[in-house]
Amino acid sequence: MEKLNGQSMNLTENNIDSLKQIFPEVFTEGKIDFDKLKLILGDSIEANDERYEFRWNGKNNAIKIAQTPSMGTLRPDFDSSKNWDNTENLYIEGDNLEVLKLLQKSYFGKVKMIYIDPPYNTGKDFVYKDNFRDNISNYKELTNQTTKANPETNGRYHTDWLNMMYPRLKLARNLLKEDGVIFISIDENEVANLRKLCDEIFGEDNLVSEIAWEKKYAPQNDAKYFSLNHEQILCYAKSKPLFNRNLLPMTQEQIERYKNPDNDERGPWQSDNLTVATYSANYDFPIETPSGKIINPPHGRCWRTSKEKFEELVKDNRIWFGETGENTPRIKRFLSEVQQGRVPISLWYYSEVGHTQEASKEVKDIFDDKKFFDYPKPVKLLYRMCYIATNKDDIIVDFFSGSATTAHSVMQLNSEDGGKRKFIMIQLPEINEEKSEAYKAGYKNICEIGKERIRRAGEKVVSESGKTDLDIGFKVFKLDDSNIKEWNPNYDEIAVTLEEMVDNLKSGRTKEDLLFEMLIKMGIELTAPIQEVKVGDKTLFNIGRGSLIVCLEDNITEEIIKEIPKYKSEFMDMKVVFKETGFGSDSLKMNSMQNLKQFGITDVRSV
Ligand SMILES: C[S@@+](CC[C@H](N)C(=O)[O-])C[C@H]1O[C@@H](n2cnc3c(N)ncnc32)[C@H](O)[C@@H]1O
Repeated sequence: MEKLNGQSMNLTENNIDSLKQIFPEVFTEGKIDFDKLKLILGDSIEANDERYEFRWNGKNNAIKIAQTPSMGTLRPDFDSSKNWDNTENLYIEGDNLEVLKLLQKSYFGKVKMIYIDPPYNTGKDFVYKDNFRDNISNYKELTNQTTKANPETNGRYHTDWLNMMYPRLKLARNLLKEDGVIFISIDENEVANLRKLCDEIFGEDNLVSEIAWEKKYAPQNDAKYFSLNHEQILCYAKSKPLFNRNLLPMTQEQIERYKNPDNDERGPWQSDNLTVATYSANYDFPIETPSGKIINPPHGRCWRTSKEKFEELVKDNRIWFGETGENTPRIKRFLSEVQQGRVPISLWYYSEVGHTQEASKEVKDIFDDKKFFDYPKPVKLLYRMCYIATNKDDIIVDFFSGSATTAHSVMQLNSEDGGKRKFIMIQLPEINEEKSEAYKAGYKNICEIGKERIRRAGEKVVSESGKTDLDIGFKVFKLDDSNIKEWNPNYDEIAVTLEEMVDNLKSGRTKEDLLFEMLIKMGIELTAPIQEVKVGDKTLFNIGRGSLIVCLEDNITEEIIKEIPKYKSEFMDMKVVFKETGFGSDSLKMNSMQNLKQFGITDVRSV
């Protein structure tokens, strides 16, 4: 029986497996023969020391940090969740690096859109410092103190920021679907570095757009040089050829440009030029207007159709010669036949997507006119990203979620188009300053603000839309160290340690804690349905309709083993997990394994 350890997905092993699939011949006794790999790759190897590359102090360490598995877990917090039993949304409290590591197995390749709004590194904001050795203890320490800024006077100003961003973006990319995209808000402090970083992680060919968002509605007249009225949003696809963006809805102004002066039964239309500049003699012919006037294309141009096609168009009443029938002919474009939407442009005006003051007001309105959060983004800004990049059943992640604007926008969009998009918000429980309004009102950290905003925004969306079937709930999870004791023997007192390891679970942890740790470490989504099955006074958990059965009982009986195959689906394999110390004897353990094998259940593990 394989033992589950407390680690998240091992990305290095994953990469090695992928390499093995492509180049089995470069492996000798399980190790990679680099010389052979170089031979296979031929001229594509860059051997020049002066090659183009983006380097900074600590980059190698940042690469290592991205690869190191997490020793943490996500513990459910039922009390601060909303609609636990029915919701498919998640709110995760913790450092996003550890959380992203923990989500790797369950959400690998499943997320359609990621939005992040990281610290811009303005010199006043806090930049999280990872600790390679023990990032979970580091996290616990950091979240107990008020966070400090990364001042520009710090010699490692850009370096600190890049070291923080690199591993997070690397892990974020793994979560994206093949047709998924990431949007990243940034301003001029780090946009140049972020472009280079993303070019490296996502590939420069996958840059979809560098969007300019007009964030202010008026100039700042006391600006020393320029009033900075915009910031950037970088959009990268996992694979640009696979990304299909949605068109934006047409504006009222655009729709109103379509008229119907001849009462055409096909509805309103707009006329378009019938001539083109790419000259072809076959398309250069005289046209007689209904009023009898002869018209030729202007010099150097020709008609966009052949004579035959033109005559068909006239018969079909698709050519317009003006009210009087004597103008240069134009082609009619019917509203019902044009693409129903606008191609998004790279300039996003506040009149369409909101500005920073509007965003602050939105959050204030939610919290009874009190200012609890600095620098939120407008709901309309996130709404637009979700509109362009997602479809009705997609998962959207924001791992610097702040006041949870992204969750608000997802609920809003779902209420308008009947979608069932799901959100995953990740946020550090960064402590609010004691003198802040939020702290005084009882919101001790930013997660408290984010969760309350989703609760209130959800109710608001429901009351404004009148829709009662919206998913406005969320399951809360909190980052903590693994529920499973680390195998960390103290060689001076080995007997004591072995004794301690007999019960492999940390004290103070609940069955549910362990259950959800298994889900994430076995690659099952945290919102998978969980059925509790009673066998006498013992409990089995049937997770994801038979994909995983978990039994955390002591004194496991034959009745329990007999019950398990009843939940096996013929369409998928079943995994089973028992508590390591749950079997009274080795012979019962062996028999149980044999019995399960008869039903084709071979993946049996222990914790
Ligand atoms: C600029 S705010 C995001 C604002 C958000 N877009 C909104 O509309 O409210 C950035 C957030 O990232 C959070 N943060 C910083 N480092 C983090 C980390 N390592 N893990 C998770 N969250 C982090 C900060 O606490 C802050 O709330």
